[in-house]
Amino acid sequence: MYFKQILDERCGCASYLVASRQSHEAAIVDPSIETQQYEELLRERNFQLRYVIDTHVHADHVSGARKLRADHGAEFCLHESAQVAYPFRPLKDGEELAMGQLRLRVLYTPGHRQELISVLIINPPRSPEPSMVLTGDSLLVGDVGRPDFGGGDAAVQYDSVTRLLRLPDWVAVFPGHFEGPCGRGMCGRPNTTIGFERLYNPLARLGRGAFVATLLDTVPARPLNMTAIEATNRGVADVPWAMLATNPAVNEINIDALETRPPEALVLDVREPQEYQHGHVPGAINIPQADLASRLDEVPRDRPVIAICQGGVRSLRAAQFLIQVGIDRVASVKGGTAAWRRASKAVAVGDTSVEEPRVTETEWMHAGARPSHLT
Ligand SMILES: [Fe+2]
Repeated sequence: MYFKQILDERCGCASYLVASRQSHEAAIVDPSIETQQYEELLRERNFQLRYVIDTHVHADHVSGARKLRADHGAEFCLHESAQVAYPFRPLKDGEELAMGQLRLRVLYTPGHRQELISVLIINPPRSPEPSMVLTGDSLLVGDVGRPDFGGGDAAVQYDSVTRLLRLPDWVAVFPGHFEGPCGRGMCGRPNTTIGFERLYNPLARLGRGAFVATLLDTVPARPLNMTAIEATNRGVADVPWAMLATNPAVNEINIDALETRPPEALVLDVREPQEYQHGHVPGAINIPQADLASRLDEVPRDRPVIAICQGGVRSLRAAQFLIQVGIDRVASVKGGTAAWRRASKAVAVGDTSVEEPRVTETEWMHAGARPSHLT
């Protein structure tokens, strides 16, 4: 057999090329939109692409699966429950795809998304048992996939991870991510084993209630442009430019420069709505980073835009994305709202992102003085 893990450092994603060296048939799992790297491998090894598999509809990166299918006439496979607007080969739990002597066995492991599958790799001439499992965003290294990316369910994720952890100890685990926003505490290693995760994955050691509570507790922000990327992967939108593909320099300003900004500048708060409502820079509007590409027409092109988040990381990437799409009068606030609050600057609460505030409890406050309805 041939097996290669391909790591995308930009988005923390892993994709896979699996092939039979007997039949020269190949499968690519969770391909990125940059398909040239797979083309080169297929050509160098003289492999024929037979299957393209997305373990699930991705929300953090645009999939290259449909492009590979079109270019190679391969079968594009998803779990049968996938809700997409294009035809695909529907896979069922337990079904096997043959490639020469190899077998790819489908294991239905929803939770991160309802259509998520894992793929067991079996090489019968060596063993009737699986030697590897591609887990997508179910079991990650030292972590599990988040359930809040559309149709996920923390309790279902518990059942799926428990099912995976019943595999033999020796099975090598190759996840869909080694870092990035799809988990909360990935170790950074690109692979592990079932035996190691059963013993040392902190979530694997929890009972159902504690597992669910942990997954639902303090859910981190959704990824940049998640809404547009997920819609593109479902085939109901076509915005591959929603992926941040460039690394432009961004003007980072401090909170004093934010306070003395020109009156025409728009402060764009890219945090989640609940973060924004708990306190934001007066006058800032809220477009969460997850919705930025979908709501791009709300970002003015004729005024300076100052992006802000809690600490300065999300706003920096949001600013890079705005520059990528041609909105280049953009700055990002270093230290974000945390620095603003630490400096005891004025903070507005509630939803003040519209001309006529939709809530009546909008009020001014200073750091540390939370209004009674938020305490
Ligand atoms: Fe995912």
